[in-house]
Amino acid sequence: MTERYALIGHPVAHSKSPLIHTRFAEATRQDIEYSLIDAQPDGFEQAVHAFRAAGGRGLNVTVPFKEDAFRYCEEVSERARAAQAVNTLVFRERVFGDNTDGVGLTRDLEANLGLRLAGMRALLMGAGGAGQGVVGALLEAKVARLVIANRTLGRAQALAARFTGASASAYETLAGPFDLVINATSAGLSDDEIALPAGVLGNDTLAYDMTYGRDTAFLRQARSSGARPCDGLGMLVEQAAESFFVWRGVRPGTAPVLASLRGG
Ligand code: ATR
Repeated sequence: MTERYALIGHPVAHSKSPLIHTRFAEATRQDIEYSLIDAQPDGFEQAVHAFRAAGGRGLNVTVPFKEDAFRYCEEVSERARAAQAVNTLVFRERVFGDNTDGVGLTRDLEANLGLRLAGMRALLMGAGGAGQGVVGALLEAKVARLVIANRTLGRAQALAARFTGASASAYETLAGPFDLVINATSAGLSDDEIALPAGVLGNDTLAYDMTYGRDTAFLRQARSSGARPCDGLGMLVEQAAESFFVWRGVRPGTAPVLASLRGG
């Protein structure tokens, strides 16, 4: 019998997740259906209840509901607890929540882009929902240094204080060089450029934007500084694969899906 999954968020109309999960299901011969749920900002619980009542087995959760999803769970994985955010819900006897964003990012960086994170000097820009999901995985990958910078310094300090090995900084006082700079802010969505001190982005820096599908101010800034720019499409596919594994116990290959998305 076909089992139902979906992505819940707002907005979700342009999401590539249905296509990605449908490809995974075909490749692994899993009988699933994957749809989109666009919920109103105060309508998360109601929408989830309705989906469960209709027999839904699991959800992916995106902006702005990852923290609501964390609170909704009766049981969470260790990585979801560390992030205090959930992007994967599983409806078993109890509601289980996981977070696959961090591992999605580190797999894209290591397996797809060929980086070795161990020993790297890393900068994470942004201490909001997107940033907090990836701190644990970067530290687990043994980066040598992890600085979290944020416009509102107190938010970066609060996030860094939750993890051993991370420190906080304002943008103006950042001291490079960094091997890896990750943009987890939503500044790019409004095309705002975040001013960075000279030397933060250099010829040997990978500049990774967690958003995908658009040429952001950060990617342009990276290019003009001589850094290697990269968007977040690979992270999207990798976090989806990990969610698929959490739901189905089968790990789909990601390379063909990523190649076809990149090909247009
Ligand atoms: P998300 O869940 O997408 O991360 P969020 O929790 O609202 O959304 O966080 C947005 C992030 O982008 C924050 O780090 C925010 O900085 P503040 O905490 O100082 O608000 C950052 N951000 C958004 N617009 C920005 C801008 N124009 N310049 C710098 N940082 C910006």
